[in-house]
Amino acid sequence: KSNEYADFLEAHALMAKFYRHLLLNTNEGNEALHYLHERGFTDEDIDRFQIGWSLPQNEFSLNVLQKRGFDPARMEEAGLLLKKEETGRYYDRFRGRIMFPIHDERGNVVGFSGRGLENVQPKYLNSPETALFHKSSLLYNFHVAKTAIKRQKQFILFEGFADVIAAVRAGFDQSVAVMGTSLTEEHVRLLKKIANEAIICYDGDNAGLNAAYKAADMLDKNGISVNVTMLPDGLDPDEFIKRNGHESFAAYVKDASLTLMAFKMEYFKRGKNLREDSQKFRYIEDVLVEIAGLKKAVERDHYLRRLADEFSLSLQALQEQEKALFLKKR
Ligand code: CTP
Ligand code: MN
Ligand code: MN
Ligand code: MN
Ligand code: MN
Repeated sequence: KSNEYADFLEAHALMAKFYRHLLLNTNEGNEALHYLHERGFTDEDIDRFQIGWSLPQNEFSLNVLQKRGFDPARMEEAGLLLKKEETGRYYDRFRGRIMFPIHDERGNVVGFSGRGLENVQPKYLNSPETALFHKSSLLYNFHVAKTAIKRQKQFILFEGFADVIAAVRAGFDQSVAVMGTSLTEEHVRLLKKIANEAIICYDGDNAGLNAAYKAADMLDKNGISVNVTMLPDGLDPDEFIKRNGHESFAAYVKDASLTLMAFKMEYFKRGKNLREDSQKFRYIEDVLVEIAGLKKAVERDHYLRRLADEFSLSLQALQEQEKALFLKKR
């Protein structure tokens, strides 16, 4: 298949090189380079992740590609160009954006995500689905991280590009990210082959927590043991590292990450006022349903005790209620 799409791969490799050159060596790239530095991206990060800059022109990529003999119609299919229907003219998809190349498992560039400098919409513009670019099965940085993942049998899952880059800078080579989609069964299949342990480190905002909940359940169902890092103050990992430093982040990921059940217990608390009886009982019921779903009796016992302690309830009452739910589940 990659033979049939050799021109897609060559064109992406070529453009990645051009975008890098524009970012690093031209006046036009200066503002973007400065923006990256301001955000805390180092020159080593930029090098390692092959970050670039696309000129805010309509026909820069078009000209480069045409000069090298690429067919514009094919390049539209490859996601690098767009076509104006009225005139039939081709023009650049990516204009005036910081370019993050996205690699397949083998390390070929198969797509890009371009971040606008200011608050332009969309914040990130991605390659469209093409013959080689499938967001639902690609993970950012997987082609590099897989070595560390295999060695440690563990991966850390993030939401965003900047998060992975900051985490790698902090020494976590086993970092990968979904790209603006939920975790899919295809992603899991890829990861399951080389790891049995996951740390989910999504953004500390509501969207991140909800997505983490879903991803955690999915990994757990696939036999991967899951911990979840809940970052404070709605921060995302990149912001957290910038504010609190590498060591603090490392402590969060390694020591303060929650078991799946502990995470769920936190998760169910959101939006509830536990000093109010009806809401407290609903919370306890939510947690009991989860406890009843645990396979190991020792684990069920552990969390029942925790719940009993937290709300000064009789362990026996909790056990009875859990047992009823447990029997219902089987
Ligand atoms: N994303 C996307 N398209 C968007 C917004 C987000 O594809 N319009 C994807 C990107 O992969 C992004 C991830 O979703 O990295 C997480 O989104 P978000 O948390 O909003 O962005 P950040 O990664 O925090 O971006 P930044 O730090 O650059 O602001
Ligand atoms: Mn600078
Ligand atoms: Mn987010
Ligand atoms: Mn984010
Ligand atoms: Mn961010």
